[in-house]
Order: sequence, then C-alpha cells, then structure tokens
Amino acid sequence: MNPNQYEALIAAARQARENAHAPYSNFRVGAAVRAKSGRIYSGCNVENASYGLTCCAERVAIFKAVSEGERGFDAIAVVTDAEKLTPPCGACRQIIWEFCGDVPVILADLAGNSEKMSAAELLPRAFDSNSISEA
Ligand code: THU
Repeated sequence: MNPNQYEALIAAARQARENAHAPYSNFRVGAAVRAKSGRIYSGCNVENASYGLTCCAERVAIFKAVSEGERGFDAIAVVTDAEKLTPPCGACRQIIWEFCGDVPVILADLAGNSEKMSAAELLPRAFDSNSISEA
C-alpha cells in the first residue's frame, strides 16, 4: 500500500468516527479496513445501556466487510481524539488476527498524528486456527 492509500484509510476511519454511538463513554472511535478487492469498509463504536453489549469500531468495520463477502485484507486504521494514540482492545486484536493476519495497524488521531504497528506486534504468539490441532 502506498502513502495515499494509508491516508485514504485514515480518512475513512475519521469519517466513520462521526457516527459513533458512544453516549456512555463519550469515547468516539472510527476504524476502516482495506480489503484485497480495494474496497474500504468503515465502522464506529456502537454502545448500549447494557455496557457489555458494546461493539468496538474495529469489529464493526471487519464484520461489515466479511458479511459483504470480503476475505483478505491489507491494513486497518483506528482513529480517536485521545491524547495518546489508541491501540485496538484485546478482543479486536484477536478479530484482526483472525481475518487480516499480520497486517499494518495504523493508529491515528484528529490532530494528524499516526503510527504504524503490526498485528503481530499487538498480539504476539496469537491463538488461531493453527493452534487447534491435537497430536
Ligand atoms: N473502543 C473501540 O471502539 N475500539 C477499541 O479498540 C477500544 C475501545 C470503544 C468501546 C467503547 O465504546 C469505548 O471505546 C470505550 O471503551
């Protein structure tokens, strides 16, 4: 992926963040994933009065893409307005690993700061389909 494509992914995540339903935490998150097809799927966090039912922006974006038939992804971006760049939560790291593998994970904010990490850095020694085998 070239720098423009990363910027487009960040822009999509930023736009999706506008739709965040976060009346309980007031922490608005946007995410966007680029599928191998070239299409970008975005998502925002969607909270619930029953807090545990909340779904993170990353999972919304990935599940939207998967449910549209996409398989294989190039990168994912996560945007917040926090003081420090926001890495995906543990559950989302597992989902990113399942569907995207070791892709670049771009953390970005509204001020224009960004950092590129890898999914493997975020989830070392991951449990995945390879782990489910018996001798
Ligand atoms: N959140 C995300 O959307 N993604 C993350 O990776 C971290 C947390 C959301 C969930 C909840 O709506 C709010 O941020 C505060 O935890």
